[in-house]
Amino acid sequence: MSARAPGRAQAGPALPVRTTDLLAQGASAIDTLGLETRYGNSDLFAILDALEVAGPFTVESPWELRDPKGRHLIHAGGYAALPFGERFPPLVAFIDEFLARSRQMGLPQQSTSEWRAALSANLVALLASEAPSHADSRVFLSNSGAEAVEAAMKMALAHRPKAKRFVNFQRAYHGKTLGALSLTPNEEYQGPFRPLRDAITLPYGDEEALERTLRDHAGDIAAVVVEPVLGEGGVVSPPPGFLARLGELASRHGVLVIADEVQTGLGRTGHWFASVAAGLDPDVITLAKPLGGGLVPVGATIARKAVYKSLLPGVASKRHSNTFGGGTLAAAVALKSLELLVEERLDLRARELGERGLARLKGIVERYPHLFEEARGAGMLFAFTLKPILGFKVPGLPDEDVQAITSVLALRLLQEAGVHACYSNNANRVVRFTPPLNIPDDLFATMWERVEAFAADNPRSLRLLQRFPLPRLLRLAKLAYG
Ligand SMILES: Cc1ncc(COP(=O)(O)O)c(C=O)c1O
Repeated sequence: MSARAPGRAQAGPALPVRTTDLLAQGASAIDTLGLETRYGNSDLFAILDALEVAGPFTVESPWELRDPKGRHLIHAGGYAALPFGERFPPLVAFIDEFLARSRQMGLPQQSTSEWRAALSANLVALLASEAPSHADSRVFLSNSGAEAVEAAMKMALAHRPKAKRFVNFQRAYHGKTLGALSLTPNEEYQGPFRPLRDAITLPYGDEEALERTLRDHAGDIAAVVVEPVLGEGGVVSPPPGFLARLGELASRHGVLVIADEVQTGLGRTGHWFASVAAGLDPDVITLAKPLGGGLVPVGATIARKAVYKSLLPGVASKRHSNTFGGGTLAAAVALKSLELLVEERLDLRARELGERGLARLKGIVERYPHLFEEARGAGMLFAFTLKPILGFKVPGLPDEDVQAITSVLALRLLQEAGVHACYSNNANRVVRFTPPLNIPDDLFATMWERVEAFAADNPRSLRLLQRFPLPRLLRLAKLAYG
């Protein structure tokens, strides 16, 4: 194919950074932190910089990073969105080949698309292999977890037009767009944006509260929205039997169930769908993070045909749409990611490593009772909770903030010990580890050795604070409180 380009136009406005420079010199081509701080989310980067965790990190292998000080890190970050780690060679090779060979339109919104069709077919087949009632389900593709949740909410509202409310759970995290935010109970995130969609927020795992709520309000409730394991809420599993019971109660009252599997789905917890494995047969399932293979943004909302059609019926079949969802490159990468997950049986690998890892983490937590409170896990989602750094209230400082700093100080020292871990968006004093599902055995073992070394160096939580240089602490306080 010949590429015909127009003749060279007159010089346009000077763009300050050139891609060729970045490719040739990497981070050293520009003042990355300066530009991020000047043109982006300044305060976030200033905080990360004060904590010395701002990067940029370079990728040494899918499972290993190097920080700017040259420290070797095992990669357990990425918030469960990296099923194969960074730049997994088979996925990168597929993308090269796809770009070289595909002749399909990039954004075929108004035409059929083989890659989108194949992705939707494979997602439904995978779900139906575990939940046969989904054999006839439909898929709406989007670009993020929050967007997948928005589509699910609109499907539920369209399907139950008289019902305007949702049931959600304390410490749930469903995203930060306005609809999804209504289901993410966190004052910092929701405060300035009320009124939001009406949600009845129940304690996670409280069967009685759910039973009562559905008995009294079922007619007003479009759907119960549930994470099979709280992810950003700090890797919390519900009591055994809760999800199955939730399904029974909702179906008895004619209320829909949306299982948000953005974080738990596609193998992370040792199952393709954690909700289904726990005995729930949800009406709608949302997926995102791992589907993009760590390289492209993809969200998917899989819904029973009748629920899907309530949102997108006949002439109103453009009532919900987006420009980029199901775009060819994203759909192709998602299709390949799904194939790699399934062919390499990364669900089983996650289950096996999950059991091994949790046993190891529990051992570490028990040996350092003045640093840790608890170890938690669900497949390859791991968390520890830390003891409060201060056993008393600091006048003028919200306790929540003091607690939140505990986990960021731990993240900083974990990085010093050689592990890149995750913050928890909706839980204080929690550090999470979401290693790639295909991490080699030896690196997985080294990761826990390093976590143990971090604990041995900081056997009391107060140490996390004592080891933080005072000027940096003052800088952080200034950033937070002006
Ligand atoms: C369960 C769950 N739902 C939704 C989201 C939102 O996804 P995104 O950040 O892609 O919008 C997240 C993100 O962490 C999540 O964990």
